Amino acid sequence: MPMNIAIDGPVGAGKSSIADQVAQRLHILHLDTGAMYRTVALYMLRNGIDPQDEQTVSAHCGEADVRVAYRDGAQRTMLGGEDVSDLIRTGEVSAAASAISKWPAVRRRMVAAQREIAATADMLIDGRDIGTVVLPDATVKIFLTATPEARATRRWKEYQAKGIDTPYEEVLADVKQRDYQDTHRAAAPLKQADDAVLLDTSELDFEQSLAAMKKIIAEKVNKTIK
Ligand code: DC
Repeated sequence: MPMNIAIDGPVGAGKSSIADQVAQRLHILHLDTGAMYRTVALYMLRNGIDPQDEQTVSAHCGEADVRVAYRDGAQRTMLGGEDVSDLIRTGEVSAAASAISKWPAVRRRMVAAQREIAATADMLIDGRDIGTVVLPDATVKIFLTATPEARATRRWKEYQAKGIDTPYEEVLADVKQRDYQDTHRAAAPLKQADDAVLLDTSELDFEQSLAAMKKIIAEKVNKTIK
């Protein structure tokens, strides 16, 4: 059985960036499952389907040919053979992904696809429902979180560095709204698995968060990580 490390947590907790570093140091692949939901969302937007319309989204989600590939160890997310990795990072797609991820028909497909991918190799998988639904028997489960204020501050700094001038209050409101949506949906809401280790990075910088995560994994798999 491949080793699976499940990392769940709210938006902006640093899942992707910290997970990416840990996966590199363990020499295993990193599956960003949010990218898969984003790709289904892009498909709906391109086809003029309202992401809030459960019936139509459910009827058409099987048409979205979502696959992941790895180039130089980095995930590329494909829609019908087209590399959409960069196109799925817009605000419009984020909002649509949040909407379509509520629908059980979408989740069923994503969960099945993610299980298939996770069975192929040792892998670190990040998302919202990995330890609870996708891989309840994962080797290691971590719930990575931080206060909404800490997460909004990080995101605001990223925006500033990119020259995007969004007020902090707006970023914080967006983080809180996405938290609300992720934790209150009926299908697979975001929650910590009973057997997940909680890692709160509110008071930690990136290097400290990385060290803390490496320590949790090393203890579980009995292996030191450089
Ligand atoms: O992690 P992210 O922001 O890229 O995720 C995009 C959306 O997909 C987000 O609204 C939460 C949802 N998602 C989910 O419901 N389950 C997952 N395993 C991963 C993401």
